[in-house]
Amino acid sequence: MTSRPIQIPNLSLVLLVGASSSGKSTFARRHFRPTEVVSSDACRALVADDEAAMDATTDAFDLLHHLVGLRLKRGHLTVIDATSVKPEDRRPLVALAKEHHCLVTAIVFDLPEPVLLERHRARPDRDFGPHVVRNQRSALQRGRRGLKREGYHRLYVLDDPAEIDAVTVERVPLWSDRRDVRGPFDLVGDVHGCYAELVALLERLGYAIGTTEAGEPTATAPGGRTAVFLGDLVDRGPRSPDVLRLVMNMVGSGAALCVPGNHDVKLAKKLRGRDVRLSHGLAETVAQLEGEPEAFRERVASFVEGLVSHLVLDGGKLVAAHAGLKEAYQGRGSARVREFCLYGETTGETDAYGLPVRYDWAAEYRGAARVVYGHTPVPEATWVNGTICIDTGCVFGGSLTALRYPEQELVSVPAERTWYEPVRPLVPPDPRAGSDLLDLDDVSGRRHVETRLGRTVTVGLEHAPRRRWR
Ligand code: UTP
Ligand code: MG
Repeated sequence: MTSRPIQIPNLSLVLLVGASSSGKSTFARRHFRPTEVVSSDACRALVADDEAAMDATTDAFDLLHHLVGLRLKRGHLTVIDATSVKPEDRRPLVALAKEHHCLVTAIVFDLPEPVLLERHRARPDRDFGPHVVRNQRSALQRGRRGLKREGYHRLYVLDDPAEIDAVTVERVPLWSDRRDVRGPFDLVGDVHGCYAELVALLERLGYAIGTTEAGEPTATAPGGRTAVFLGDLVDRGPRSPDVLRLVMNMVGSGAALCVPGNHDVKLAKKLRGRDVRLSHGLAETVAQLEGEPEAFRERVASFVEGLVSHLVLDGGKLVAAHAGLKEAYQGRGSARVREFCLYGETTGETDAYGLPVRYDWAAEYRGAARVVYGHTPVPEATWVNGTICIDTGCVFGGSLTALRYPEQELVSVPAERTWYEPVRPLVPPDPRAGSDLLDLDDVSGRRHVETRLGRTVTVGLEHAPRRRWR
């Protein structure tokens, strides 16, 4: 029998699922460190001096949840060894992992009944009748089809004892974990289709602009450097397809890394036929892409879909994410983390003008890693608690900025012109003016504006006073 590798992300919750005697504890002992395994039996023993004390189940699971939560908070791979045969047993465990932004791998042991009963008979440590095992097996069978929809990153169903014997477990880094890439880096803020400025910036940084065999633009990095694009390659600007071509070729050759921005993701959705509003400069990109072959649009959609929410670089000392990333989310994987990377986070409140109040994660940031991001156009890139926004609003007539890391040197080129006019002035405030910002898909071009109430709210750049940009 060929061995089938089970891939487990370094930071994840692993659920072993199966009736009594299906071999969960044996598997856990073989493939994981004892401290990585949290078993319901051990928790029963800890709270009741007896691992078979069924009356202690509630307290034992309280302890199990607490233990697992602490381990996941601290970033340790954790295996739960409990039968978990019913969907309602698994649901709170999956929720616990999501609470800590950890992926969940389920390994299901679905063995034939005769195998289970034979093993059960031979066990001195299980004094319940065979009907218990049978019932557990039926419960698992009933829920088998629903397993796919329970939110697992990976689901492995093993139903053959020989296969289980042959299985190997491989720990893999999370996709965001690029700590091995040490740099030096040139991190580039939101390009938004400003191709000429991008080429000028790369040249200023010492990159050699060239062409691929297919005659497309590309660039090679100087002296072991790597460019890191912080997303929002497209929309509003004049040459989004050329920016995409250049960046895709640089990523393809290893000269660059790239994280997705909200505009890139929305474009990919549009290219996949989803019904998205052609607002905030997407209409321009779609029009520009109409002149391109279908294969190019397909390539763009796949490229964006393949981008990882954020990158942890240089041994963990540097984090790149489009909208930034608070410490608790760094190196983690969940829908919530991805959403933060793309859009940032609002507090859930709206201010007196009906605008969502933005959670100012950078003001509270105390993490050790430097976080370099874009998304929110700022007149000037400045460090705040080890974080820096380098989106200096090129498409709005500002500049395109790169951060040289580890040098921490800012390099900017001015916009050739204002490519996209901020259209709506802020004053007088119209309570309806910000309503479209509530659609997260459309949130972009935000900046902080001090309201008359003295509160910082976030509005679209279109709402910001223009004089701040002159
Ligand atoms: P386990 O004790 O690993 O099962 O194996 P389990 O799933 O954790 O069971 P519960 O839920 O705690 O009750 C049960 C018996 O089956 C044998 C083990 O030696 C043990 O006696 N076994 C396990 C095998 O014979 N082959 C295996 O591949 C696994
Ligand atoms: Mg066991």
